[in-house]
Amino acid sequence: MSFQQEILRRRTFGIISHPDAGKTTLTEKLLLFGGAIQEAGAVKNNKIKKAATSDFMEIERQRGISVATSVLAFIYRDKKINILDTPGHKDFAEDTFRTLTAVDSVIVVIDVAKGVEEQTEKLVEVCRMRNIPIIVFINKLDREGKDAFDLLDELEQKLGLTVSPLSYPIGMGYDFKGIYNIYEKNINLFSGDSKKNIEETIAFDNLENPELEKIIGSKAAEDLRSELELANGVYPKFDIEAYLKGEQHPVFFGSALNNFGVRELLDCFVDIAPTPRPKMAEERLVDANEEDLTGFVFKIHANMDPKHRDRLAFIKIVSGTFERNKAYLHVRQGKKLKFSSPNAFFAEKKEIIDISYPGDIVGLHDTGNFKIGDTLTQGEHLNYKGIPSFSPEHFRYINNADPMKSKQLYKGIDQLMDEGVAQLFTLEMNGRKIVGTVGALQFEVIQYRLEHEYGAKCSYENFPVYKACWVDPKDPKNEEFKEFKRVKSKFLAKDKQGQLVFLADSQFSLQMTQSKYPSVKLHFVSEFD
Ligand code: G4P
Repeated sequence: MSFQQEILRRRTFGIISHPDAGKTTLTEKLLLFGGAIQEAGAVKNNKIKKAATSDFMEIERQRGISVATSVLAFIYRDKKINILDTPGHKDFAEDTFRTLTAVDSVIVVIDVAKGVEEQTEKLVEVCRMRNIPIIVFINKLDREGKDAFDLLDELEQKLGLTVSPLSYPIGMGYDFKGIYNIYEKNINLFSGDSKKNIEETIAFDNLENPELEKIIGSKAAEDLRSELELANGVYPKFDIEAYLKGEQHPVFFGSALNNFGVRELLDCFVDIAPTPRPKMAEERLVDANEEDLTGFVFKIHANMDPKHRDRLAFIKIVSGTFERNKAYLHVRQGKKLKFSSPNAFFAEKKEIIDISYPGDIVGLHDTGNFKIGDTLTQGEHLNYKGIPSFSPEHFRYINNADPMKSKQLYKGIDQLMDEGVAQLFTLEMNGRKIVGTVGALQFEVIQYRLEHEYGAKCSYENFPVYKACWVDPKDPKNEEFKEFKRVKSKFLAKDKQGQLVFLADSQFSLQMTQSKYPSVKLHFVSEFD
C-alpha cells in the first residue's frame, strides 16, 4: 500500500462524554464491530470506578490498565481506526484536553435522559475552538428520555452546535421501535437483543410508502412522518464540507448497550470522518502528506514498575513515516534520538512496530527526555504549538518532609510535572513551590508516587487560590504593569515555563485587579496571542 493510501485509510478520533453517558460501552461496541475484541466487558476495567475515587491504590492499578487502553486501534472496512481514550473522571480533565490535541475528530456521547451535561460543555468548547469535526451520538434510547427535538435544541443552545440529524428515533423508552436512518435511508427495528451484532435493516427511501404503517404501526408512522418533515424544515441538510470544517454537526440516535445504531454510526463515521489533518507549527502549517516525519508528544505515562523509572511517551504522527531505529531530532533538546522498540497499539495490546503513518500513535520508551508538547522531526527545527495549560482548581504549598531526600523530591516533582500530573508554580516573593491540580485526587497520587518512585516525602499546606491567571503585560515597561507587579507581589509566581502567573485568591480580588489594571491582560489558559 502506498504512503498516500496509508494516510487516506486512517481515522484517529476521541470519544468524549460526561461520565456515565456511555462512552466505555460505545467504545466497546465499536471494537466488537472491528473484530478487535471478542466479548463485551473487555474495556470496562479501564474505568475508574466512582466508588473508588478516594482510593489512590485503585487509581494506581487503573493507571497500569489504562496504558493498554490509551489507544485502541482496529481495522474496519479496510480503514485503520485509532480511538484515543480520554479519562471520564473530571479530576483528569486536563489529560482529556491534551488528548484532544491529537485527534482528528470526535464523537460526543449524550445520555438521552440527561441531555447536555457540564463536562460535555467544557470538552465540546475546546473542540469547537479548534474546529475539530464532531459527530453526536445520543445514547440510551431504550430508556425514557427527553424529546428528540428538545435534545437537538439543547445541542444548539448549550453546545453551540449546528446540528443535522442523520438518524431519527421512532418512539423512545418503552415505546422505542427503532431508528430511521436518514443517511442510509433505511429503517432499523429495535429488538432489544444486545447479543445481535448485525441488526436487521429495511431499506426505505420513501416515507410516504404505506408499508411504513405495516412495519412500525400507524401512530408511529404518522409521528415519524410529521417529525421528519419538521426536522427537514428546521435543520440544514447534511453537508460533508461543513462537517469537516467543524461548522455542522451530524447527530445519531441509538443504544450502545443494546448495540443498536452503533453500526450505522460507525459506517457513516468511516465514510465522512477526516483523514489525518494538517497541523499548525509555530513556523508553518504541516501537511500529513509531507514525506519527512514530524510528530509531537501529547501524553506521558509513567511505568508501573518503580525500579525502572521509564515512561511511555505517546507521539502523534503528523506527517511522514516513523521508523524503528532511525534517528530523529528532539527539537527542544537539539539532539538526535533512535528508538529500538517503538510501540504501536492494537485493541488492548501494544506491540513493537517497524513503521507508523500519519494519524497513528507511537509509544516511545523514555527515561526523562520528553515533556508534553515536545516535537520530533527528521531534522527540521519545527515546534508544534504547545499544549496549553488551564488554570488548576486546587492549590497547595508542597513541602519537603524528608530533608535528606531533597534532590529526589525535586527530581520527582519535576518529572511528574513533565508528565502533566499537575502544575507547579514558584512564588516570586520567596521561591516557595505551589502545586496546582484539577482534582483533589492528584495530591494523593503525587504524594504516593514521590514516595514509591523517587523515595521522597512531601507534605502539603493549604494555599487559598481561586484561579491562576497567566499575565500578558502587553507592554512590560508601562507604569501600570510595574504598579501591578509591586502591589500584587505576594500573589505572583512563575509557572514551569517561566511565564508570569497571578494567583487570585478570590473572584472578587480578580475582578478588582482587572478593573484597576486594565492594560494587564489576565488569561485562564497559558497560551494566548
Ligand atoms: P461512561 O464510560 O461514559 O462513564 O459510561 P459507561 O459506558 O460505563 O455507561 C454507564 C452506564 O450506562 C453503565 O451502567 C452502562 O451499562 C449504561 N449504558 C450504556 N449504554 C446504555 C444504553 O444504551 N442503554 C442503557 N439502558 N444503559 C446504557 P452501569 O450500571 O453504571 O454499569 P454496568 O454495571 O452496566 O457496568
